[in-house]
Order: sequence, then structure tokens, then C-alpha cells
Amino acid sequence: MSKEISAVITLFGGSGDLAQRKLYPALFGLYRRGVLKDHFAVIGTARRPWSDEHYRDIVREAVCDDSIEATAQASAFASHFYYQSHDVTDAAHYTTLKELAAQLDEQYAVGGNRLFYMAMAPNFFATIASHLKSEALLTEDGFNRLIIEKPFGHDYASAAALNASITATFDERQIYRIDHYLGKEMAQAILGLRFGNPLLRGVWHKDYIHDIQITLAEAVGVEERAGYYETSGALRDMVQNHVMQLLAYLTMDEPSALTPEAVHEVKARAFDQLHRYTEAEVAANFVRGQYTAATIAGTAIPGYREEDGVAQQSMTETFVAGRILTDAPAFAGVPIFIRTGKRLTRKSTQVTVTFKPQAAGLFGAQPANTLTIYVEPSEGFSLELNGQALGQTNVLEPEELRFRHDPAAAKAAPEAYERLINDALHGDQTNFNHWNELAQTWRYVDVILAAWAKDETMPTYAAGTMGPDAATALLERDGHHWFWQPTRIQMAD
Ligand SMILES: NC(=O)c1ccc[n+]([C@@H]2O[C@H](COP(=O)([O-])OP(=O)(O)OC[C@H]3O[C@@H](n4cnc5c(N)ncnc54)[C@H](OP(=O)(O)O)[C@@H]3O)[C@@H](O)[C@H]2O)c1
Repeated sequence: MSKEISAVITLFGGSGDLAQRKLYPALFGLYRRGVLKDHFAVIGTARRPWSDEHYRDIVREAVCDDSIEATAQASAFASHFYYQSHDVTDAAHYTTLKELAAQLDEQYAVGGNRLFYMAMAPNFFATIASHLKSEALLTEDGFNRLIIEKPFGHDYASAAALNASITATFDERQIYRIDHYLGKEMAQAILGLRFGNPLLRGVWHKDYIHDIQITLAEAVGVEERAGYYETSGALRDMVQNHVMQLLAYLTMDEPSALTPEAVHEVKARAFDQLHRYTEAEVAANFVRGQYTAATIAGTAIPGYREEDGVAQQSMTETFVAGRILTDAPAFAGVPIFIRTGKRLTRKSTQVTVTFKPQAAGLFGAQPANTLTIYVEPSEGFSLELNGQALGQTNVLEPEELRFRHDPAAAKAAPEAYERLINDALHGDQTNFNHWNELAQTWRYVDVILAAWAKDETMPTYAAGTMGPDAATALLERDGHHWFWQPTRIQMAD
């Protein structure tokens, strides 16, 4: 981690789920590591009329683990938190917020630095940004940065409109559009694996790669987020952002440096080079699905359409699989298979690169070598190579070399939100979405959405399985298969 930072952090949505589950623990992590120390204050805002004392109790509760040390630190940490009841649509309240921020700036000797965090429903993002400008909440003498949660838009047009309203207040260098996958240990580690190993660097090319597969499987259903999910679906919720970001890390050129500018340049190029399908091509390359009821381990699981808050005739997809191609010269023709969904067999995010198998040679045809990167819940990677079987034989067998981060050490490492807030406090935009990236990924996804809007069929899959049969057929028709099967014996998840 890095040096101590002074800032007044204003959190819109201070009473919300994200704040309590992720943001307060992340800020506490930064406090324990000394990034936030004496010169910081957090203003939590939401409509409900909480007192500072009550708010501090909430924060303490959100960050306490079982350790006595954490409990002692939590009180000192929470003393930096202030609550301001505020309706973000009411201009007058921004004046109160501004005065409180100025007072805390002086009290904690912050030096004018401001971090605004929009952890609210996205329909408020533009309103908040315009009020921050009209009520002059940005300072002249420190940094002013904005962290904005996903979803960033609903399609290209709405994302562009939102971007226009935010850039009327903040310039691109002040905007930190979050995709928490970019804060994950093993998502960031893809760059090190790809560009720090001559062994992999030499074969990271269409001449050697058979396919790339990205799986983001969730075991949970829609839970209590049906209201949001009904307007989103798996394509918007997972593919446009998390899947695309992993895909970019896997297919982009090597950046000239590990700087935000250099990384964004190659990522933007990777998205520019995605091969865009026409609407007519979507059906052959993308599969959607919806989970239906099933009994899993003796528990009756409702189908998506039976979930609270879901329309009986809902056409929202809870599963997507796709065959993505890129026109990037290094990967032209290499299929990138992606899949994500709810109520799949097991939670796992992982990436597998399968190298072209050896068809002939001294040892004859051999199974393909594979590299698998485990993003979550385990964090590590494995490499399958063909090794000679024990004894006097020329028979080769696939052997798996595994590396897994020690779970205790991984738990102690900063969590995604902590890394990302740390980056924003230090002015490092590397692990955030540049507008160009979002624009291109929305353009890509919009074509699929348009094709699906004209299609009245919705394939289904039983809860607890790995998606509709069509998702398997999508690969098999070209001689590929899903590498990861939940039943496969691999690194323990
Ligand atoms: N929760 C997650 O795990 C998660 C994960 C990824 C992304 N996100 C994103 O994070 C954002 C927040 O999600 P969330 O789950 O935390 O939502 P949430 O639990 O519904 O919280 C919304 C917050 O906004 C406040 N609020 C609502 N209307 C307001 C108004 N007019 N003026 C001022 N405050 C208002 C609410 O408090 P009051 O009711 O007291 O006003 C509450 O603090 C969303 O963009 C979501 O997509 C969330």
C-alpha cells in the first residue's frame, strides 16, 4: 500500500447496502494500513435522519471482525465519520454539505482534497454531478475526484448521456468509473502472468492458442435484487463490464508501461478490435437462458419467473454464453468463449487458455496444454502439461501444476474495493474504466440486445446446472468444449 492521504470523502448512499458491506470495510482496511490516518473525514449522506452517533455505530458494526485489535481501532476510525441527511435532488442540501466539508477540511487539516463516491441508484448520478458543480462543492486548492458505481448506463445512448452530464462537472482525469473486477487480485495478476513470463509471452498468439474461455458462474439466484435485475439481465450486469474487462486483459497488446495512459490505450484498442456481429449473426454466436425451478440438495429452488419481483412472462436472461471474436492481428480467428449466469452449479470465476494440441510428433497426438487462472473463490493458477508416466514407458499423461495463494494470506490482502479506493485516493486510474472502453463495450452489447428484443424464445436451464444445452452446442459445433465442468477435480474452490 501507499503513503498517507488527506481527504474529505463524501459518500452518497451512506446508509446503503454497498456502503455497509463493502465500502466501510474497505475504508477501514485503508485506515489499518495507514493510508487514511489523521487527516481524513467521511461524510455519509442519505435521506434517513440519522445522528452522527448512530451513523458511527453502523460504521463500527460494518467493520468489526472478531479481533480485539479491530474492535479497538474501529472506534477511532468511526470517529472520523459524519452523517448529513440529504436528498440528492434538493439543491439546498448541497450548501449544507459544502459547509460541513469545509469545516471538516479545517478540523482534519485536509488541504482541500475531495473524493466523492456515488454509491446510489444510477438514475441519481447525473443529478448529483450537476449539483456538485452548480453548488460549487469542488475545491480550488486540492484534488477533486469522483468514484462512480456501476451500472454506467443501460445501453450506449444512456451511457453517453450520463457521461456527458458527468464530464460537465469532472474531467476524464477526475473520474473513476468502478468495475470491482478490476480490483480483484487475480484479475490484476493476469498482466503479470502474461507479460512477466517469457514462457507464456511466446505462445500468447493465435498460432498457439486454440481458445480462451471465461466463466463467471454464480450459484445464487436473483435474491432480493429482482427490481434491478429485471431491467438489467446477465448481459448488462456481467458481460458488458466484468467479462469484457477480463477479456481485454487477456487479448490486449502489451502496454508500454504500467501507467493508466498506457494500459487504457491498449485496452481501448482491444475493444475497438472486437469483431462486431450484425444482428443476424447474434443467434449463431450468443445464447441466453433463464433458470427454472429445481430441487437442489433437498431444497426447492424457485425458477426465475417465480421469484419475488419478477414478471411471470419475464424475458430477462439469467444466463449468457457467447463466442466472441477479435480482429486484433494476434488473435484473429481465436474464439473467446464466455459464459455467466445465476443459479449455476457452483460459484467460480475462472479463465482457461487452451493451447493448440499436438497432433503428431515423437509422442504422437497429445492432449492440449492449458493455463487456468482462478479469480474467485480460490485465487491462483494452474498449468496442464504432458509429462511422462512413471516407469519405463513413453506414454505421456497430462499433469497439472498448481499454484494457489495461501487462503489466510489472501484473506489478509486488500479486498477489491480497498484496492480501488486506495488507487483513487492516490490518483491512479489504471484499474478504472475509461469512457472509451465503456463506449465500445456498450456498442458491442447493444447489437446483441437489439437482436434479442426481436426474438420471442427464451431457452431455459434447471437451477443448479451449467446453463441451457445450446451453450454446450455453441462450442461443440466447432470442435471445442467447456474446459471447466463443476464436477472436474481441480484446485479446491
Ligand atoms: N450492493 C452491492 O453489492 C452492489 C454491487 C455492485 C454495484 N452496486 C451499485 O452501488 C450502488 C448502490 O447500491 P446499493 O445496493 O448500496 O443500494 P441501496 O442499498 O438501495 O442504497 C441506496 C442508498 O441511496 C440512498 N438514497 C436513495 N434515494 C436517495 C435520495 N433521493 N437522496 C439521498 N439518498 C438517497 C439510500 O438511503 P435513504 O433511503 O436513507 O435515502 C441508500 O443509502 C448502485 O449503483 C448499485 O448498482 C451495488
